[in-house]
Amino acid sequence: MLDHLPDGFTALVTGAGGGIGSAMVEALLDSPRVGQLLVVSRTERFHDDERVTPLKVDITTKEGIDAVARVLQGRPLHLLFNAVGTLHDHEQGVAPEKRLEQFDVSAFTRVMHVNAATPLRLLTALNGSLKGSHPCIVASLSARVGSIGDNGFGGWYSYRASKAAHNMLMKTAAIELARLNEQMIVLCLHPGTTDTALSQPFQARVPKDKLFTPAFVAGRLLTVIDQRRPEDTGSFWDWAGEPIEW
Ligand SMILES: NC(=O)c1ccc[n+]([C@@H]2O[C@H](COP(=O)([O-])OP(=O)(O)OC[C@H]3O[C@@H](n4cnc5c(N)ncnc54)[C@H](OP(=O)(O)O)[C@@H]3O)[C@@H](O)[C@H]2O)c1
Repeated sequence: MLDHLPDGFTALVTGAGGGIGSAMVEALLDSPRVGQLLVVSRTERFHDDERVTPLKVDITTKEGIDAVARVLQGRPLHLLFNAVGTLHDHEQGVAPEKRLEQFDVSAFTRVMHVNAATPLRLLTALNGSLKGSHPCIVASLSARVGSIGDNGFGGWYSYRASKAAHNMLMKTAAIELARLNEQMIVLCLHPGTTDTALSQPFQARVPKDKLFTPAFVAGRLLTVIDQRRPEDTGSFWDWAGEPIEW
């Protein structure tokens, strides 16, 4: 697994309390090659594994991001897997729009903050751990609906726009980070429709064989990541290992 990275590598998973994030933590801990795993979530996470450092913070706040940077203290980070994302949030008044008149600026701003600004702010704060000469992979969960070229159905204005912005920010960061670390690989990943809280309200019309378990997706995404090399940095892939148009 992740042959590109050295034995005993250091990994960080954000959104580790979510469906895909928690499955990724389990998948990483299945490998003896992981040396240290920083598990970041708003909820308390317990793992009976001395390699785990749990951190209970809200990564969408500056305090949360600063706390993660403090734990790493500029030490080399080999894998950053970002599984933070929002599509609906009753308390915050966020719901995917079906029609133009449902568009709400404050909900849009919230979704942009969580899905687009937060992953980039994370890279900003962890820059000291990303730059250098060590192999380093940044894998951030996007969504196929964030592809402008692939948008055949419309709707979900805020979520689509936030994932398109996420992709642009990651692509742009990939260019800068390649100058700071020649071994850097920055990837935007589409997990496929996965059985989590995020997709739960929209699963009714998804055929059973198209609704993946988080464990399956975590395994697939690790395979897709494994197949990438530094020359692939700044690209967008689905769970099956197929590239997605921007
Ligand atoms: N499930 C799907 O079908 C699907 C399809 C395409 C793309 N994706 C993408 O995959 C990623 C992971 O989604 P998932 O399906 O695993 O969803 P999930 O179970 O809802 O997990 C998302 C996690 O993101 C963090 N988060 C969400 N809203 C937040 C907020 N307002 N403030 C702070 N943290 C927040 C939380 O992490 P903590 O609980 O750890 O704090 C949450 O558990 C997302 O980026 C999503 O857009 C999912």
